[in-house]
Amino acid sequence: MSPTDDGRSRVLRRVQISSLATCVPPRVLTNADLERMVDTSNEWILQRTGVRERHIADDDVATSDLAAEAAQGAIEQAHLTPTDIEFLVVGTTTPDTFFPSTACLVQDKIGAKGAWGFDLGAACSGFTYSLTTAVQMVAAGAHDHALAIGADVMSRIINYEDRTTCVIFGDGAGAVVVSPAVDPALRVIDFAHEVDGSGGQALRMPAGGSRLPASHETVDQRLHYVHQDGAAVFKFAVRKTGEISRRILDRNRLQASDVDLFVSHQANRRIIMAAADQLGLPEEKVVINIDRFGNTTGATIPLALADALAAGRLKKGDLVLLASVGAGFTVGAVLLRWAY
Ligand code: COA
Repeated sequence: MSPTDDGRSRVLRRVQISSLATCVPPRVLTNADLERMVDTSNEWILQRTGVRERHIADDDVATSDLAAEAAQGAIEQAHLTPTDIEFLVVGTTTPDTFFPSTACLVQDKIGAKGAWGFDLGAACSGFTYSLTTAVQMVAAGAHDHALAIGADVMSRIINYEDRTTCVIFGDGAGAVVVSPAVDPALRVIDFAHEVDGSGGQALRMPAGGSRLPASHETVDQRLHYVHQDGAAVFKFAVRKTGEISRRILDRNRLQASDVDLFVSHQANRRIIMAAADQLGLPEEKVVINIDRFGNTTGATIPLALADALAAGRLKKGDLVLLASVGAGFTVGAVLLRWAY
């Protein structure tokens, strides 16, 4: 089929987020629980990270389960049916399996017959990268309705004997439906992304891939868990969250004061506030919900958007700046006017 045989315009279209839904597992792991598991304290965790509690999936729940529930919610809210979804992308660091991809599992679970899609590996930038990918599919005219999903069950790759990582992460999923913009002013305006692979050693899961396949040794050495140089990640995250946010605002001739809501990846309260300070954004424009969910990797931004919506802090027409930094390093920002 030639590119125009389906009769669709190939001219770039304006695209909106039409709906948003999230899913977290019900079980909660509090700082008090962690005090009983490792040498830590509620005060240390709160002060250094901002996390009070995080949700943890039961053993029989995997990433595709949370992702599918969020996806179903987003489809319903958009007043669509699953077969309206033509494309889905799942930003995840904890796929159910290497293959099939989580996107395939979600497609089947939600009944998005005829859709295609894939997983996207961008760690904590999983949602900004997935959103941009889905937006481009719709903007190109290739598809009318696409799902961008960020979902992770981080508890599967966290060593609950390592106090430097186990206090930070949690499990969750979020999904948005993206569609052609109804009002051209209320749309995804721009995106900016970059990767810096030179920082790859700072945050990684060393084993389980083709470099170091699973073996008795890798398991004994606990190489299937998150390993990080917290200070290096912290410094990079503060600098790049500020830089990418400034870049996307500058090139759209916008000031930080034009931003109604800054929704950053929730890695650490101090990272978010330091980046917001650099940008000159007051606290009332910054969404922070890391206290209740921890760092859910691909899911933090949709979870934060959902909280802002529920609290009446996010309204139709608001200028929203999303920003993320993740393992890789991956860096992302998406600028949009909220459409509903
Ligand atoms: N409870 C109590 N003490 C802890 C602890 C915990 N959970 N974790 C670490 N410590 C200790 C350290 O061992 C260290 O002790 P020492 O001085 O005796 O060696 C001390 O606290 C300070 O550690 P440090 O690593 O300097 O703390 P920090 O202020 O940098 O905070 C992080 C650590 C991990 C919270 C912080 O570096 C961070 O958030 N980094 C970014 C991580 C991240 O966001 N990863 C995901 C990115 S998407």
